[in-house]
Amino acid sequence: VSLRPYHTFGIEVRARLFARFQSVDELRALLALPEVQQAEQLILGGGSNLLFTKDFDGVVLKNEICGLEIISQDEDTALVRAGAGESWHGLVQYALDQDLSGIENLSLIPGTVGAAPLQNIGAYGAELKDTFEELEALETATGRLRTFSMEECGFGYRESVFKGPLKNQYIVTSVVLRLHRRPQPNVSYGAIQTTLQDLGIAGDPTPRHVSEAVVHIRRSKLPDPAEIGNAGSFFKNPEVSQHKFDELQAHYPEVPGYPVPGGVKVPAAWLIEQSGWKGHRRGPYGVHDRQALVLVNHGGAQGQDIRDLAYEIIASVREKFGIELHPEVNIM
Ligand code: EPU
Repeated sequence: VSLRPYHTFGIEVRARLFARFQSVDELRALLALPEVQQAEQLILGGGSNLLFTKDFDGVVLKNEICGLEIISQDEDTALVRAGAGESWHGLVQYALDQDLSGIENLSLIPGTVGAAPLQNIGAYGAELKDTFEELEALETATGRLRTFSMEECGFGYRESVFKGPLKNQYIVTSVVLRLHRRPQPNVSYGAIQTTLQDLGIAGDPTPRHVSEAVVHIRRSKLPDPAEIGNAGSFFKNPEVSQHKFDELQAHYPEVPGYPVPGGVKVPAAWLIEQSGWKGHRRGPYGVHDRQALVLVNHGGAQGQDIRDLAYEIIASVREKFGIELHPEVNIM
């Protein structure tokens, strides 16, 4: 089966076996098949955080569990449950339609609801964990469903227990978020404020305004995977010690940085741009010209070539700044 339609990097690779499931029962039935049990398994949502570097000699299971519903509410909040196979942005729009706020800053993030907790998706001043209540996941070894609380998910910056100690052991089937019934727009991110002004939105912005601003920013900076293959940020933003940051600042007074508990987070995009990579192009692939953190496939690139470019960028940033970048994308 060609995986080309099932991931956003647009790489031509194949999987030995492919199946989709629309319910927990269908998933259990698939996992009971000997050919599935014996094969390496890859659970696919929107395929928007993956780089395939070769054919996948296993079984790809595509999560298509649907459903969006408000399961309970009190005066201030509502609990919304979403099937793992729903599109993330679809959930954001559903919330806005129900006058629920809390995830509008995460508008237009590609991928599915089920993939969102794996890396605690975040953008424009918000993270999944800010509204997360719990999730349900199926343990592949036993077929049993388990509920994970926020604490049990171990969320960090683009991290969770499902990328760490429990990697490949559970399949997320649904996610519950606690959203606000009284709008609490979060415009802490500078670019949202300036974009609201540019869009002519004065006074108190509504969650829908914030969503419009985020959509506007994303469209202006990030390539649309429907047009140019990519998986969003290819690298995580590295964290350096305060001492290291002071050193950097002595050489580069304009270096951006955001204080975090253990030190300072430096935008990888800045380090990559300063190393001369922004807009770099090698035939069919390269570095996006408006966001240096994004590697792109203009069409016909090989996954290995993009991976090699990523490691060249890592080496060059290490050389110039003594800072180690780490891929954020899952390299297969
Ligand atoms: N910058 C550059 N050159 C560039 C782009 C950015 O120097 O080409 C510098 C600028 O100083 C800018 C700063 O980097 O102010 C931050 O840029 P931006 O707001 O675009 O955010 P980012 O840190 O590069 C992160 C996330 C994005 C998320 C944005 C917005 C990571 C790995 N990436 O990028 O997430 O959309 O913030 O909140 O944390 C993704 O994970 O796929 C993703 C797109």
